[in-house]
Amino acid sequence: METVLSGIRSTGHLHLGNYFGALRNYIKMQDEYNCYFFIADLHSLTTHPHPADFHAGVRTILAEYLAAGLDPDKSALFVQSDIPEVSELYVLLNMIAYKGELERTASFKDKVRKQEDNVNAGLLTYPVLMASDILIHRANKVPVGKDQEQHLEIARVLARRFNKLYGADVFPEPQAFNFGSDLIKVPGLDGSGKMGKSEGNGIFLYDDEKSIHKKVMKAVTDSGPTEPNSKMPESIENIFTLLKIVSTPDTVAHFTEVYNNCSIRYGDLKKQLATDICKHTLPIRERIEEIYNDSDYLRKVAKAGCEKARESAQATLKEVRAAVGIKSF
Ligand code: ADP
Ligand code: TRP
Repeated sequence: METVLSGIRSTGHLHLGNYFGALRNYIKMQDEYNCYFFIADLHSLTTHPHPADFHAGVRTILAEYLAAGLDPDKSALFVQSDIPEVSELYVLLNMIAYKGELERTASFKDKVRKQEDNVNAGLLTYPVLMASDILIHRANKVPVGKDQEQHLEIARVLARRFNKLYGADVFPEPQAFNFGSDLIKVPGLDGSGKMGKSEGNGIFLYDDEKSIHKKVMKAVTDSGPTEPNSKMPESIENIFTLLKIVSTPDTVAHFTEVYNNCSIRYGDLKKQLATDICKHTLPIRERIEEIYNDSDYLRKVAKAGCEKARESAQATLKEVRAAVGIKSF
């Protein structure tokens, strides 16, 4: 059976980008694959969260994973920092990752622009840690959103390079995965490219009905089309992209038609979009609080996930150490 692995950084609540770009695929994959899903808490250190908030961030994502439908009886759910083998593999992979190729990563260049006073080495080697997460379980498929494609390419390059350099066949090459279609990018409704935590434009699974309506009603629009069948500006296209993700084909067809014949009322479009977002998120929201407060349950889940993940990680690391030539006396 093929192995699946993916993770989300613990830097806030899960938003629609995380859910539709990644998590929804995790949930669907649980029955067919050997699944590992984790919380990338070490990755979140690249932006220096306060120690007092660190654990709560991990707990939030674990509770939201479970509320959204990840099943600890089917998948290993664990915390990245509970698996020390990942950090050891990270050290070893750093020795075969080159500065130039890491500097060329779009996400690194983006961070350099956004946090120029904190360009730490962890940011530069972010994709190496991500490759370690993936390769330590020899994952074949990695469900992620479109923004992670380049990181997956680096994981493949490192897998190939390691196997070649050490003349060993330790790592398979992991592929990004989305059920039956291309990887997706969930847009923000503020006229910017993607929805993201650091973009400050998130609509969260944790948001209540009122805040979802409020956020959607604030979406950037224009004065409306004046010519039939005119090309949509980006901000309107973003609303339609989200509508296609959350609404029925009939609803999408209706609003496309009224856009094309210039009778669209953006207020109606937004109201429908907010209602349809709520249909997906409110049932999840209902479960989050209860799970978040159930410390015994969370401990049990994280412990079982850690045991399963460490067993797999230790088996890989043993082969890795042997390939590199590391031996104990
Ligand atoms: P964020 O981008 O909000 O900081 P992460 O970087 O931790 O969240 O992303 C976790 C997962 O969610 C990744 O698989 C990523 O591809 C996916 N993801 C995040 N934002 C989006 C988006 N706007 N559209 C599609 N997928 C997304
Ligand atoms: N880099 C991913 C993101 O920001 C999170 C992540 C860390 C990840 N390690 C991973 C995703 C391993 C998939 C597999 O979205």
